[in-house]
Amino acid sequence: MTILVTGGAGFIGANFVLRWCDATDETVVNLDKLTYSGNLGSLHALSGNERHLFVRGDVADAELVAGLLAEHRPRAILHFAAETHVDRSIHGPADFVQTNVVGTFTLLDAALEYWRSGNCPDDFRFLNVSTDEVYGSLDEDEPPADEAHRYAPNSPYSASKAAADHLVRSYFHTYGLPTISTQCSNNYGPLQFPEKLIPLMTVYASRGDALPVYGDGKNVRDWLYVDDHCDALCRVLADGVPGEVYNIAGNCEMTNLEVVAAICAELDEWLPALDSGPRSGLVEFVEDRPGHDRRYALSTAKIGEQLGWQPGESFASGIRKTVKWYLDNQAWLDDVTSGQYRQWLDLNYSNRASNV
Ligand code: NAD
Ligand code: TYD
Repeated sequence: MTILVTGGAGFIGANFVLRWCDATDETVVNLDKLTYSGNLGSLHALSGNERHLFVRGDVADAELVAGLLAEHRPRAILHFAAETHVDRSIHGPADFVQTNVVGTFTLLDAALEYWRSGNCPDDFRFLNVSTDEVYGSLDEDEPPADEAHRYAPNSPYSASKAAADHLVRSYFHTYGLPTISTQCSNNYGPLQFPEKLIPLMTVYASRGDALPVYGDGKNVRDWLYVDDHCDALCRVLADGVPGEVYNIAGNCEMTNLEVVAAICAELDEWLPALDSGPRSGLVEFVEDRPGHDRRYALSTAKIGEQLGWQPGESFASGIRKTVKWYLDNQAWLDDVTSGQYRQWLDLNYSNRASNV
């Protein structure tokens, strides 16, 4: 048996592939373009493993994708590949439309051809990994979004993911392709590119640098430990119903300031004290992200009741493991933070005036 994973050199995809290769005897074909956020170093534990076939390529390359499906005859496609960073989508939305919309369309179309070809296993699934951001910003007193919540994407990133979700839905309803979408909340854990909140703040605070919190720091996100997410995806792949959507979240809503404080408290325990005092004193409020969504929150009642899944990790235990992982994996960080990364930090942070 074989599965095709796209974006398996990125944060969640790599965690998933490592886990899958460990827990099953199935082959993984891993299609990844290796953009700035894809890193083969994340997969070094699989070097020499014949059940992991890495292919460098673009999900928007129709010929390549069709060839991989015909050759490897996967029983499932798990589609992680995407442009994923909201701030980058503000500076350059075109890549988001190309990969997230055109790329997903290309993959769906190739999957449809393959599914109709007679060359495809009967229980084939197309699993589209998406985001809570498609539901837009929730008010403080609104209940968490369930799967029937209206779509209201507010950033070029979330709009491109919403467009992809609609295409996925249409391929089920129009052609019967057995698709499933999952909408997950903010993931954290090992192997996340340090442009996102948790690894960025961990790296900065460990060095004693200022911690750039956007706006008033009271934006709320739900935090999901990446292993819990991978566990949920396995559950959805095994028992999820084609045409359905499943929310996946950590049931853990926190403000950005609370998250940063938790990271600082961990680092204060692990590292020598700073002369300036506790690391939470490094917080600097900077100009807000344009269109910054105030709150995301997801109801996980459906996946809990129908598939028996619930998150296993508390934020306290998950953040402890995560911070420790970044402290212990400086070589990985050095590897992913190339010159291009420094250019990104200059572009995103140099023009954000401090609000204090
Ligand atoms: P990531 O940015 O860490 O990794 C994305 C991977 O996709 C990289 O390896 C990159 O090289 C690859 N890629 C990009 N464009 C490609 C293309 N055109 N063809 C092939 N490969 C390409 O992202 P992630 O955090 O691992 O996210 C994985 C998925 O989960 C995405 O679809 C994202 O929208 C979704 N998601 C992530 C989060 C989160 O908190 N990280 C939350 C909700 C949803
Ligand atoms: P991020 O990790 O970019 O995920 P998303 O925007 O997809 O939720 O950001 C999480 C939250 O942290 C979001 O409210 C923006 C905020 N943030 C900062 O305050 N400072 C930063 O430097 C970054 C990267 C994010």
